[in-house]
Amino acid sequence: MDVPGSALPTPPTRFIGRSNEREELARLLRNQRMLTLAGLGGSGKTRLAIEVAREATAVPETKPAFVDLSAIRDGGAIRSDVAHQIGVGTKPEESLSDALIGTLNAGPVLLVLDNCEQVVEGCRDLIGILLQSMGGSPSNEIRRGRPEDAARLAWVHLRTWQQAYAGLIPESYLDGLMNLLPDRTAHWRRWLEEAPPWVAAPDAGQVIGFARCGPSRDEDATPLVTGEISGIYVLAEHWDTGVGRRLMQACLASLHEAGFAEATLWVLDVNVRARRFYERGGWRPDGATKDDAREGFTLHEVRYRIGLRHRVPA
Ligand SMILES: Nc1ncnc2c1ncn2[C@@H]1O[C@H](COP(=O)(O)OP(=O)(O)OP(=O)(O)O)[C@@H](O)[C@H]1O
Ligand SMILES: [Mg+2]
Repeated sequence: MDVPGSALPTPPTRFIGRSNEREELARLLRNQRMLTLAGLGGSGKTRLAIEVAREATAVPETKPAFVDLSAIRDGGAIRSDVAHQIGVGTKPEESLSDALIGTLNAGPVLLVLDNCEQVVEGCRDLIGILLQSMGGSPSNEIRRGRPEDAARLAWVHLRTWQQAYAGLIPESYLDGLMNLLPDRTAHWRRWLEEAPPWVAAPDAGQVIGFARCGPSRDEDATPLVTGEISGIYVLAEHWDTGVGRRLMQACLASLHEAGFAEATLWVLDVNVRARRFYERGGWRPDGATKDDAREGFTLHEVRYRIGLRHRVPA
């Protein structure tokens, strides 16, 4: 379902500075469902919130919904005001709360409530209802990989191949993969230094998935314009929990932040599950295919492409 209205406002002047705050807020947003910006009048809360929301919703499937509460004084009217501003209507017999929950949860949607100070209690109640409907905080943190993750990443890398490609590529090849562990660990030590991936891990726990992205390595790619996700790997025990989607969002946000206007990825043509996952995220096949010859078998891959939302020049 779409959020019908309420795009982010376009401020008349250019945004200046605040790079540390923007980075910190982006980090928190990846891992929290709710964030509050508090500060003195005129200190730049609204501008900062708009800027952070713009970057966080550069991911094609995430939409912003901006609501200015400065005109309302009656906390009881907050639900109808928010629904009105983001263009949510109710069906017969449906409560406003249910209509809002339905629209926002069909998302992902980043809801920005500006000027909550006149209606603090109403905001608190509304946010409480919304958070409750979403089932608390996401349980895995998305962060950059660190040197000490090398051995675990190597294992997750090989294990997820065995899980995701069972039945798709020869069993004998998959069975032998774990023999590569020492070698793969050494590779990961280097990769972690050169270009740390995004990883998903429970608090202070072991990595359960990762995603790598950077400039496209394809010969036909336009340098600085086309970025690439070179792989999203999540242990099968954690499929369908939203972890893969959050890793993809982290990749797209960082590619967008780095200035790329689009991204591509290669996926095994027979990997229906992965293809559906990408298609749900807005990716489409761009017609390119390639064959990757391995020992004794060939992988047929298709390329998918997605546009990253236009970045307002800084
Ligand atoms: N980083 C920035 N770059 C450019 N202009 C900024 C920046 N931060 C704030 N401003 C400008 O300063 C003014 C005050 O900022 P803003 O409205 O965001 O403050 P606020 O904290 O939301 O204030 P209030 O408490 O009154 O809502 C605005 O005109 C805004 O456009
Ligand atoms: Mg403000």
